[in-house]
Amino acid sequence: MENVKFSGHDTVALAKKYGTPLYVMSEDIIRDRIESVKKAFEEASCDYEINFAGKAFTNVAMCKIVASENIALDAVSVGEMLTAMAAGFPMERVCYHGNNKKSSELKFAVENGVGLIVVDSEDELKKLTQVTAELNKDVKIMFRISPGVEAHTHELIQTGIQDTKFGLPFEQAKDIVVRANQLPHISVVGIHCHIGSQIVDEVPFIAAADKMIGLYQAIRNEGVDLRAINLGGGFGIPYLQGDEYFDTLKYIPKLVQHVKTMCAEKQVPMPKLIVEPGRFLVCEAGATLYTVGTVKTIPGVRKYISVDGGMNDNPRPALYGAEYEAVICNGKATEDMEEVRVSGRACETDTLIDKAVLNHPEVGDILMVRNTGAYNYSMASRYNRFPIPAVVLLSGDCSGIMVERESYQELLSHDRVPDWLK
Ligand code: LLP
Repeated sequence: MENVKFSGHDTVALAKKYGTPLYVMSEDIIRDRIESVKKAFEEASCDYEINFAGKAFTNVAMCKIVASENIALDAVSVGEMLTAMAAGFPMERVCYHGNNKKSSELKFAVENGVGLIVVDSEDELKKLTQVTAELNKDVKIMFRISPGVEAHTHELIQTGIQDTKFGLPFEQAKDIVVRANQLPHISVVGIHCHIGSQIVDEVPFIAAADKMIGLYQAIRNEGVDLRAINLGGGFGIPYLQGDEYFDTLKYIPKLVQHVKTMCAEKQVPMPKLIVEPGRFLVCEAGATLYTVGTVKTIPGVRKYISVDGGMNDNPRPALYGAEYEAVICNGKATEDMEEVRVSGRACETDTLIDKAVLNHPEVGDILMVRNTGAYNYSMASRYNRFPIPAVVLLSGDCSGIMVERESYQELLSHDRVPDWLK
């Protein structure tokens, strides 16, 4: 039987060439996803912008892909902004997010010409006012608003509810925005919300859009020339075969039409619509390759296989109870499918997949877990001092490293011994 392919590449050959654990990302799929979102907006004919949410997956090569696609980047830290700068990403297309930006970080953003700052709180506004006065520079801002909408997703990734650390409480937002617009150096160009991630139901998205349009109208009525509404990301993807599927590409024209109708009713100009997908653009473009290191059967209980990664490279099962599917990559003659628990090698019970159906797993097999392109590499940790795996980019027939595997030397490079221990 043939080896399993990913984005046209033999996964066993990739594992051999680059080692495991290994993240593989398909540039073809990423570009296809970006193009499809553009097309959905083009067909709906409206002024729009796509901000790739870098938190889902960022590095220098990824920023180059995003730059070449002519879309914008949502960055949440100086680290992400520096990554964009290293890629030559046009900083006027960067949108800087975060619920607790420090003055030094705001200064970095303003000095480096970041196009838009999404202000999350009144305290941040104060800091930004000081920074812009000090630098004598003007900035364009949006305010993040929490619309008080509940999205049906994991509690930890719901962000638009009333009881949240993110954004201005909806009821206070209008007054704050109107006041902010009178400040020197600050021009408020829009309002933003993001209600959560991995949402597979359009009802909360539309409910949030409705609240934001109402607020947009109320703020415009106060004489603030708002031009844009950013409705965030959150479009869910099917992690498992047969999973409930949210059709983002069908939803976008529906959303545009809905906003057009609402704006006509309210007699306000159609705003520029901004979306900020992260997961939708990269999740299905990624997979993780592991080597099976142990197989054990506990009679009458279950079979375990342990792979050479785990919660270090994919913390999502541990954090959110996220479910994944896996496949043995090296072609096997046997059709001896069995249910096993796939465990990682962190020193705790880091189950990656509770019930994986695999083709007679054996020591030395290469296992591929699909749909790991979002929030896996970007959330990887060095727990137990395991180095961060490499990321390989696949493009057509080519493969090349986009993030080098961390070496043990690098892992130790930050350690220092205080004088009294020398
Ligand atoms: N915009 C803002 C302001 C966000 O906070 C996020 C995600 C996005 C856009 C992109 O959301 P997406 O389209 O990727 O759902 N670590 C979690 C997800 C956290 C999402 C944080 N914010 C996970 O692994 O599920």
